[in-house]
Amino acid sequence: MTEAPRRTGEIRLHTAEDFAGMRKAGKLAASCLDMLAEHVKPGVATEDLDRRAYEFVMDHGAVPATIGYRGYRHSTCISLNHVICHGIPGPKKLKDGDIANIDVTVIVDGWHGDTSRMFFAGEPKVLAKRLTDVTFESLWKGIKAVKPGNTLRDIGRAIQSHAEAAGFSVVRDFCGHGLGRVFHDAPNVVHYAEYRDSFLQIHRAPDIPLREGMFFTIEPMINAGKPDVKMLKDGWTAVTRDRSLTAQFEHSIGVTADGFEVFTASPKGLDQPPYAI
Ligand code: MF3
Ligand code: CO
Ligand code: CO
Repeated sequence: MTEAPRRTGEIRLHTAEDFAGMRKAGKLAASCLDMLAEHVKPGVATEDLDRRAYEFVMDHGAVPATIGYRGYRHSTCISLNHVICHGIPGPKKLKDGDIANIDVTVIVDGWHGDTSRMFFAGEPKVLAKRLTDVTFESLWKGIKAVKPGNTLRDIGRAIQSHAEAAGFSVVRDFCGHGLGRVFHDAPNVVHYAEYRDSFLQIHRAPDIPLREGMFFTIEPMINAGKPDVKMLKDGWTAVTRDRSLTAQFEHSIGVTADGFEVFTASPKGLDQPPYAI
């Protein structure tokens, strides 16, 4: 066993063999979400879903990357309704109309597959459904901007313009990230091109050129209300400050010679809820 490399700040460029490693890891992470789809329904505790994910990943000879990560103890993050991300699985039961993001990261032969999707418990409200659809579309607008010659800012612009045209806002405090043998590597992948903060300071996404062999996630968090985040006292759970609904989808992506490869596509085609199962 060689030790896992650490984040160095350099953006790594990967080989064809590395793409094969990510394909396997991404597929297992996506299969785990496929497995969970039929279990997401009113009355189910989020810790039950987490336990199913743990057993699934271990049964496939892999490990959940989040267990032991900065003291986190679970295999998934499950973020309900106004929880933006890093919701901690627990005894709380899903209710009819809840929307949930389930995020799983697995390590297969040293490679990280990181993906999340939205799920509906029962029947979502109209706004929840529309927010979920726009967030899914925003992720795909971002993915389609991935090709050598474009920059990280082009990804952010595609996401931000779609989400804001729908009247929603893009979370700025969390971003996508490089990954591979490292879970959270360079670069940061922000989901906006630019914005002005409350001090009128302009923040711009870096115009770093995309190059063949880069691996990173795109994982936009889109709010129905304002973009501001509040952290709960557990140190993990991030919620919308205005308690508005929020949604997220995430894929792990590789930059190819002429575009992108999505490592975490759903083998069962369960890309976007409702999942008819
Ligand atoms: N999977 C999350 C991401 O998309 C990270 C979760 S870290 C945890 O980057 F510790 F909160 F699980
Ligand atoms: Co991620
Ligand atoms: Co994730």
